[in-house]
Amino acid sequence: MRYSENIPSPACAKKTFWTRLIMFESLKLSELPERQCGILRKPSNTRPTIWVAEEKGMRAVVKDFSTSKFLFRNSVGRFLVWRESKAYGKMKDLAGIPKLYRVIDGLALVVEEISGRNLEELEDKMEIPQSFFDALKDLVAGFHKRGLAHCDLKRAPNTLLGDNGLPYIVDWGASISEKEFRLFPLNLVYRRFLRDDYVAIIKMKLRHTPGSVTQKEKDFYGYRSGPEKMLRGIRDRLRRILQKIA
Ligand SMILES: Nc1ncnc2c1ncn2[C@@H]1O[C@H](COP(=O)(O)OP(=O)(O)O)[C@@H](O)[C@H]1O
Ligand SMILES: [Mg+2]
Repeated sequence: MRYSENIPSPACAKKTFWTRLIMFESLKLSELPERQCGILRKPSNTRPTIWVAEEKGMRAVVKDFSTSKFLFRNSVGRFLVWRESKAYGKMKDLAGIPKLYRVIDGLALVVEEISGRNLEELEDKMEIPQSFFDALKDLVAGFHKRGLAHCDLKRAPNTLLGDNGLPYIVDWGASISEKEFRLFPLNLVYRRFLRDDYVAIIKMKLRHTPGSVTQKEKDFYGYRSGPEKMLRGIRDRLRRILQKIA
């Protein structure tokens, strides 16, 4: 199976990326409550509303902080939208990462809808094949090559199994870039986050297909050197900060 075979809806098949860009250009946040065709998640104090919007048969997911409280949406909300849009900008050509169509008013991201289910929804429901995890490894290598670490892959809802059997990764608000972390000792922390993205895959495999986890992967999952234990402490503190605001 190849990524080009992921077609969210028949109406999308004939439309190019540029057509979609133009279409969602007219979307306004104030109109979303009437124009939405589904809510994937209601807002909470620290979480945006996740809408599904449709325009002329085309669907997009809208991650919308405009429904959050004033202070939160104008500080953390804007910051996270900016961070996530920056990350999407670096992965425009990477299959397995939904396309960012646009940012509305600095408060919401309009992203290609992936038809499929996230790994949390699939827990105990179906066996995920080894081929999915192989493709996921390639996908992780793809964004690492572009200088990005996701940092939040251990959360199962951030990985999707597309209806085409292939992996997709969402939620880039906590991601970090190699460039920002290039100076010592941050470069070591960055390397640790790269490793963590792979550890997250092994964690998923342990949960979904434990029989397929190799001894090498088990060793990789459990390995801790002295300096790494120290870095773990720094990383965990950083992660807690990033997750608090994400
Ligand atoms: N592009 C997308 N296509 C399909 N579902 C998506 C998409 N983006 C997000 N979702 C769904 O919405 C959920 C929440 O989105 P996410 O970006 O992870 O928000 P949060 O930062 O609040 O965790 C995801 O776990 C996934 O199930
Ligand atoms: Mg998420």
